[in-house]
Amino acid sequence: MHGPDRDFWQQRFAQRQTPWDRGAPGPRLLQWIEEGTLTGGEHVAVPGCGSGHDVLALARAGCEVVGIDYAEAAIALTRERLAQAGVEAALVTSDVLQWQPARPLDAVYEQTCWCALHPDHWVAYAAQLELWLRPGGRLLLMAMQCLRDGAAVGRIEGPPYHMDINAVRALLPAARWEWPAPPYARVPHPAGWSELPLALVRR
Ligand SMILES: C[S@@+](CC[C@H](N)C(=O)[O-])C[C@H]1O[C@@H](n2cnc3c(N)ncnc32)[C@H](O)[C@@H]1O
Repeated sequence: MHGPDRDFWQQRFAQRQTPWDRGAPGPRLLQWIEEGTLTGGEHVAVPGCGSGHDVLALARAGCEVVGIDYAEAAIALTRERLAQAGVEAALVTSDVLQWQPARPLDAVYEQTCWCALHPDHWVAYAAQLELWLRPGGRLLLMAMQCLRDGAAVGRIEGPPYHMDINAVRALLPAARWEWPAPPYARVPHPAGWSELPLALVRR
């Protein structure tokens, strides 16, 4: 399989080369919490949780959060962040392509884990997201928009890998997911790209 592996991400954290890290929770996540799209008591997963800002925000909102990351350095940073805040969440060092929740999830907050996976893994990852969520559960997906010139001649470049809306729709088809109508308000990303916030419901 192609794309970055666990060591790649582990080294990025160890060398503090984490340009994707906002140093704060995602602004759209905070809005979803404020709007009540995510509410206290819900069982929520954050795949590829990185240094844990989003895990902390969800735990503070009263959600029963599980942060998953296969880079031990990421999990260590998240654990430290939670301890400093005196807040609890479950943390799992695992590959998101293998992990399964003990019981179905109410929601998944997907913030730049999907775009960190080579497209060879996208079919398997989309299947995981569907399997994790209960019917009626929500996938809050920040779809990375980072189209590069090489795509015009067929190059697959990343991470981050561009999440073309047509590819996302094919992997999360309307027959199995309720899609809100576009346009979606793009959210700027610290690495210079932007993200499309998609709040989907698993049918
Ligand atoms: C671009 S970072 C994003 C981190 C965090 N979500 C954020 O926005 O700051 C991608 C994260 O996904 C993790 N990751 C990538 N592939 C993974 C996999 N197959 N299983 C678990 N974690 C993975 C990396 O270790 C890294 O922490």
